Amino acid sequence: MIYFVAAVAGIAGILFGFDEGIIAGALSLLRGEFGITPLDEGLMTAAVPFGALFGALIAGRASERFGRRALLLWAAILFILGAVFSALITAIWMLSLARLMLGVAVGVAALVAPLYISESAPPAKRGMLVSIYQLAITLGILSAYLVSFAFDHSWSLMFMMGALPGIALFFGMYVLHDTPRWLALKGRQPEARAAMARLHGVSPDAPAITAELADINRTAQSDRHAASWADLLTPSVRPALIVSVGLFLLQQLSGINAVIYYAPTVFKETGFDSHATQILATIGVGVVNVAMTVVGMMLIDRIGRRRLLLIGFAGTALSLGLIAVGAVTEAKSLDMLALGGLVLYIAAFAASIGPLPWVMMSEIFPLHARGLGMSVASLANWGFNFIVVFSFPVLVSSLGLGGVFAIYTLACLIGILFTLKLVPETNGVSLEEIERHLKSGRPLRLLGQAPHDRGDQAGTTGASPGGLAPRHDTGMLIRALISLGPYQSVLMPLADQVTRIALENHQVRGALQSVSIRTNFENTGRLSATDLGSEAATLKAFLEHVRFASPAFLESVGELPAGGKRG
Ligand code: BGC
Repeated sequence: MIYFVAAVAGIAGILFGFDEGIIAGALSLLRGEFGITPLDEGLMTAAVPFGALFGALIAGRASERFGRRALLLWAAILFILGAVFSALITAIWMLSLARLMLGVAVGVAALVAPLYISESAPPAKRGMLVSIYQLAITLGILSAYLVSFAFDHSWSLMFMMGALPGIALFFGMYVLHDTPRWLALKGRQPEARAAMARLHGVSPDAPAITAELADINRTAQSDRHAASWADLLTPSVRPALIVSVGLFLLQQLSGINAVIYYAPTVFKETGFDSHATQILATIGVGVVNVAMTVVGMMLIDRIGRRRLLLIGFAGTALSLGLIAVGAVTEAKSLDMLALGGLVLYIAAFAASIGPLPWVMMSEIFPLHARGLGMSVASLANWGFNFIVVFSFPVLVSSLGLGGVFAIYTLACLIGILFTLKLVPETNGVSLEEIERHLKSGRPLRLLGQAPHDRGDQAGTTGASPGGLAPRHDTGMLIRALISLGPYQSVLMPLADQVTRIALENHQVRGALQSVSIRTNFENTGRLSATDLGSEAATLKAFLEHVRFASPAFLESVGELPAGGKRG
């Protein structure tokens, strides 16, 4: 079921890519037929990102009020109308209007579709499922390149083709329901339960459904008031805002849309003379974009967001740097260097910097500010997209291709620093846990790591005490450990506190470290009773200790020390 949900919402991504990419192919035919001025051309191209800015602005609030599903249905209608109007226009100003309408739909869909997927997906698959959306964008771009190639005699047919995915989106969303999280937020409990049961393919009374719903409700209860713009700057939301806006800024400044929109121009500049080879090379870029997005999807929930981002920024910096140096030094085989560099660039982008900002923006905002926060993040995406696309020709004429690519290289290098310093690892962490972490006031970057920094006797630099994996793995390990023992119901809700106490104890920390290394827990995420080996006694005694005796534990969970009430 969840794959069907992701596929339907993913159609919105196809429309996004298609409406962006199709104008490149239609432009030369339109120029011949309508005698377009540069201003018309600018207006027509700008209409989609401009409309999208507007769509993103309204979509956050509207999706909180009317629901994720309703918004996607409206967007589908706009996509269909926009495609039909574009195909029927008799003057260029009409095309600008039609594309403005498409832009609004793109802006709404680009925000609500990833949200819809992320609120429906189980944590372990969320990254992969949300990146289906990015895959869909790349498929949309590729299909626009192919449609322009196939219908190179009729711009009207090119535009009309955009109605087909619009119709599919409408019917797909029509049969689907809203997300359990949104329904719970609106207090529609039976519907939320039914929606969740459908997603998991189990009975609505299943204990897993009750537990997950209770967790969502706890979060929803404390978040019932709608967020205001000012809320975005409060300490529990601001870190999420900085990470999502920053990632989109860097994604766009990496120059992706200069490549997507101007690939034929870049190939021309670097020495590909025939129009046919320029177009073929462009289709090649589209294919690599799709293929590497699939690779990224396979990696995202395995190697984690941070590592993938670092690889992506390093890969794009390297490839853009190569092209820049080649262009500045006027290397002899610049055409081949540019082709190789662009393929490497697209590959690194598509597997990482492409999907990750979308994935992260859909997971790191607290529920009450999620819609609004994602609106602002999407606005950043469209705003910077607009700036890069419009400045590219001007910058190339003043700085040359080498200079412009050098700027993009710099942005990717800054991306590495930004990731290291600010981006949290959200892999496998539930949306509710992320929210609790934000509210705890600890730096977002430390998400999933137990609060251990105080009194770190081990004196390790950067890594967790005792060399435990410097991410959320300790918390995950503790949870796995608790689930093996008899105190699950009491200790699991307090897993964060248990983790903190575990890390403060030298002996327990050592035992956890040994188990973690021996079982390769960081990569497998699996633990069985037999894996505990000689550490079993220490860890068992520790859990009993925190359950029954530790004053520190009782104090930290708000219970009275021995003799008082106990849960
Ligand atoms: C970006 C778009 C870009 C696309 C290319 C997306 O993640 O937000 O601006 O055109 O990737 O695949």
